[in-house]
Amino acid sequence: MIRGNIKEFENTLECRVSAYPMMTDVGYCKLASDDFNLTDAQKSDLSIIQRHFDTLALDPYGENAGRYRQHSKYVLLPCFNLLIPQSSEHAYSYKQDVGFNDEVVEEARKFQPVPNEILSNNLITSLVLHDFKNSPLHEYASTIPMEVGIHFIRMKATVDAPGISVPNRLHKDGEPCTWIHLINRDGVSGGENIITDNTKTNILCNEAMLKPLDSIGIVDDLVWHQVKPVHVDGHGKVGFRDVILIDFTPMFAVPNNPS
Ligand SMILES: [Fe+2]
Repeated sequence: MIRGNIKEFENTLECRVSAYPMMTDVGYCKLASDDFNLTDAQKSDLSIIQRHFDTLALDPYGENAGRYRQHSKYVLLPCFNLLIPQSSEHAYSYKQDVGFNDEVVEEARKFQPVPNEILSNNLITSLVLHDFKNSPLHEYASTIPMEVGIHFIRMKATVDAPGISVPNRLHKDGEPCTWIHLINRDGVSGGENIITDNTKTNILCNEAMLKPLDSIGIVDDLVWHQVKPVHVDGHGKVGFRDVILIDFTPMFAVPNNPS
């Protein structure tokens, strides 16, 4: 049900594996495409999302890195089962502390927004709910709103240039919990997801996602992560890897400082 642009969860995503224990205990979880049991309507939604990646704009903060991006935000009200797309200017900007990402200037980055019809796609909203329920943040009181960031990212490789993620090294994001869902992968090799514990030397995961809806969740406090560049596979001229990132941050009031 949609009231204005407010989305109430209708469908849930059936997954035969509960990621929650591993997310809580180890700080990451990898789910395979086959773990999700999609309805016919969800398969149709997935096709719409797959085609949508062809419309992404070039990332203005790395024009030579073969990256195409869109970014928007929602507010999730767990107690009402509501997901509210944010359409203000603020919703489109994405700021990471320079301590998390020193490959970009310390200012809010603005990306092309995700269109409303994609933000309200039933499979997308079901993924948001799945990801939240399988996050340690699910333990918070259900009355605490969550800011949800959603990024669509295409890494495109050509014969001359690999597609490169940013930052291209082990890092943390700053958001307490993030899920990565593969949507398309065609004509590329590489793109392995590296995840380590906080020693940065004990590798927990070194695997590429290969099939649509292969997914990885990470808990920022517990692990470091990195995505390796993608290269054109075989004799092809171009290839790409498309993912959706969904991140969650509790929204707490910030009192004024006396000055
Ligand atoms: Fe990251």
